[in-house]
Amino acid sequence: MGNSVTIRKNQFKESADTVTFDILLQGEKKQGFLVWFEGVFKAYLNQCRHMEVGLDWQPNDFFDEDKKFIICSTHGALYSPKSGLCVAGPCKGQNLIKLSISERNEDIVIFIDEEGCLEDG
Ligand code: FES
Repeated sequence: MGNSVTIRKNQFKESADTVTFDILLQGEKKQGFLVWFEGVFKAYLNQCRHMEVGLDWQPNDFFDEDKKFIICSTHGALYSPKSGLCVAGPCKGQNLIKLSISERNEDIVIFIDEEGCLEDG
């Protein structure tokens, strides 16, 4: 059984904005985040690929100083906001876990199901 989360696009004010949301994944409560970067929306699980910890410095604070990369607050891994690929740090070459999204007029709908809406890479 799947579930979805809907987020209004107008919550994003500028490039490198993020919005977090809670999801139920295989019976476990997890957090995801939707990022808007250079006109593109992407959703990921809020979990580093080095260790199973959240990425954000403070709630919903995911970006490095230059607002170019998502940065892990634990050991500083840098991830591309558009692809989720780790480009530097201990998990270089691995990808954030993506969540499937769909744009519907003024909304972004994020789909979570038990089977395959999570992609690795
Ligand atoms: S836990 Fe994220 S870089 Fe180590």
